[in-house]
Amino acid sequence: MAARIIAVEPFDIVVFGASGDLAQRKLLPALYHRDLAGQLPAEARVIGVSRRRNTHEDFRQAARKAVAANLGSEPVDEACLERFCERLFYIPVDVGAEAGWQELFDILRDSEARIRVFYLATAPELFTVIAKKLGAHGLVTPRSRLVVEKPIGKDLASAREVNDTIGRVFSEQSIYRIDHYLGKETVQNLMALRFANALFEPLWNSRYIDNVQITVAENIGVEGRGDYYDTAGALRDMVQNHMLQLLCLVAIETPASIEADAVRDEKLKVLKALLPVDERNFSALTVRGQYRAGATPKGSVPGYLDELSSGASTTETFTAIRAEIGNWRWAGVPFYLRTGKRLPSRVSEIVVTFRPVPHSVFDGTAGPITANRLVIRLQPDEGVKLWLMIKDPGPGGMRLRHVPLDMSFASAFGVRNPDAYERLVMDVVRGNQTLFMRRDEVEAAWSWIDPILDAWRASDEPPKGYTAGTWGPSAAIALIERDGRTWHDED
Ligand code: BG6
Repeated sequence: MAARIIAVEPFDIVVFGASGDLAQRKLLPALYHRDLAGQLPAEARVIGVSRRRNTHEDFRQAARKAVAANLGSEPVDEACLERFCERLFYIPVDVGAEAGWQELFDILRDSEARIRVFYLATAPELFTVIAKKLGAHGLVTPRSRLVVEKPIGKDLASAREVNDTIGRVFSEQSIYRIDHYLGKETVQNLMALRFANALFEPLWNSRYIDNVQITVAENIGVEGRGDYYDTAGALRDMVQNHMLQLLCLVAIETPASIEADAVRDEKLKVLKALLPVDERNFSALTVRGQYRAGATPKGSVPGYLDELSSGASTTETFTAIRAEIGNWRWAGVPFYLRTGKRLPSRVSEIVVTFRPVPHSVFDGTAGPITANRLVIRLQPDEGVKLWLMIKDPGPGGMRLRHVPLDMSFASAFGVRNPDAYERLVMDVVRGNQTLFMRRDEVEAAWSWIDPILDAWRASDEPPKGYTAGTWGPSAAIALIERDGRTWHDED
């Protein structure tokens, strides 16, 4: 079936932090792509806001560069880029002060009836400041929406404060908390796989599933984001949001529909059913690591501490956790989570390993029977592989072989895989919150994370060192091997 373009209503999107990394690297290229696909109505405008005293033309010039630099191998469609740039406007606003707000009001004055999106691509400290100013300057119309990205707070208490403050200006139905992992094509496919096939549901429980592994590995280091990262660490940066969201989509009960609250209600139940990890059990269930200098295929790289101006830190750049969900479907099934910077490769995947057959009818010459596995690869090489046992073709008696039923999306469908932001930004305009986190989900995730952070803080043990370019500290291997299992390693 050909890709379908669903038209959206005219809108204004006001991007705070317009000269920042997120806007330049993700949002502008995403909007350009939607324009290229013919999805943006003629009247749609993108209004960049930041403190710099730039002009409309400066912003357009920067956008031309940003789009061209972020298309990968795809050629720039010059005509489309020019059309796209005509939609761009720029207003300098000092968000902490008064300068610029009136000008922002003026440019939006005649478009009150339109959908208006305020996208805060700024430092998280500014979320509440900007939300209050938007309210105070009368910029919030009945059709306005606010978009914020993680981190929402650093713990439960601060997340509540942020949610309370933005909630005084915007209703929950108009707040879109982005977790860009939910916009990834394969994450969507996880929903299709689970809820559009009858095959998996009867097996999707502790009776037939042995364990689930979720790995989000990156080969990059902190890449100039050391100041932010050092206040966060892998647990806050990746687990509290992206990885718990993936876990939720694997574990939720079938929602009554794909409507936002139906899905989010089910995710919330999973988050609330996570068994606590705290000072009593954290040393058996969690590992935290920090990378040291090492070698990668691109050459030698410095250690985490060498990249920090302070030169000292106990922030984790790697974590592995053995989580469990205390409900009837999942009791006793470990969910192993693993994420880190400076690992050997960039790979994000969910691996569902089924239980082995209860008894083998084959004799020893057939070879071992490996348990079935469903590997959902988010990146790179998006796709799903279902590993099955088959008979090795040809003569020679019954010899068994473990082979993948391979559904690699890019090669199978020959379509461009849209970036998560393309889908998510258009969902905001369409008013579809299914892929966005509701307030209670964010807070439930923090409620599970906080005791782990507290236990780590209270422990004398610093993170375990691992050499850059390896799969984290050996304790992460021990964490899973203690259960008689191993981390999935793509054959
Ligand atoms: C972000 C984290 O949310 O996700 C980064 O803050 C991380 O530290 C990034 O690098 C990974 O996203 P992706 O889409 O490249 O896997």
